[in-house]
Amino acid sequence: MPQKIIEPIIVDSFESIVLNIDSHVDKFSQDAIVVFRGVPLSREQQLIITSLFGDRAGWFPNSTSQFKNVWSYEENHSFTMELYNKYDKTKDEIFLPWHLEHIGHENPAIGATWNMEKFTSEEGTGNTLFANICDIYDIFSPDEQAFLSKCRVGAFYGFADDEIAEQKTPVIYDAVQVDKLSKRNALRLSPVFDVQRKMFHLHSFDGIEPTFMEHEMFWKLSTRFTESVYDNENIQQVHVWKQHDLVVVNLFLMVHAVLGGFKSSDRFFHGYWAHAHEGSKYENAQ
Ligand SMILES: [Fe+2]
Repeated sequence: MPQKIIEPIIVDSFESIVLNIDSHVDKFSQDAIVVFRGVPLSREQQLIITSLFGDRAGWFPNSTSQFKNVWSYEENHSFTMELYNKYDKTKDEIFLPWHLEHIGHENPAIGATWNMEKFTSEEGTGNTLFANICDIYDIFSPDEQAFLSKCRVGAFYGFADDEIAEQKTPVIYDAVQVDKLSKRNALRLSPVFDVQRKMFHLHSFDGIEPTFMEHEMFWKLSTRFTESVYDNENIQQVHVWKQHDLVVVNLFLMVHAVLGGFKSSDRFFHGYWAHAHEGSKYENAQ
């Protein structure tokens, strides 16, 4: 079992969350996730909270955003269940595999709020697992960290079935990036290697075409990244859902997965995506 259970912040009203927003964001900056429990929140209130975090965490939506489109969704996991025939996954088995959100997109989500509007499944089913990619970076030796800091990654999206095929050119970015909130180094890889093709590769090393040995080393370290996410209980965290929980998560840092044991009719959450630039994962706002 994963070792760290994420402790929710017990609240008695929407207003109390707003009143204490600065201390909540401080905790979020350190932990990369906070969970509010104890009060049902409307979607309007959820959006206000998402925006107040945006003001302080540097994402859109925020209170001064000129761009009025907000990217929201409802999730009961029925799509994944049907597409991959995953009706029989137990509460101890991974239902939705570990992933870093929107890898390969120009403007990936760097945060989200997830409001579990309905949860009538048995407690302890459908837990969400998290691991902070700063904690994973810290696993590597100084020499390996120095190697990774010279790597630029080429990444494709393709986690969702409707997105797999058409991307012709990868998004290029530094494998190691400093998280603005915690000031820690983050290793921006994904535990998902391929769907129908490899989702990321070493694009350049120290500014030039990588050698065969550098490709080999990158792949070895990427494999250890994935093995750490799946197997290292010291870095895994778990959220045990209750109805009306509101999760605020730093998706720049948190790889995540969902365990099984529930029916899609027994739960759904409403989510708002948060991005570094106005717009969606597909494009920046014009
Ligand atoms: Fe996700």
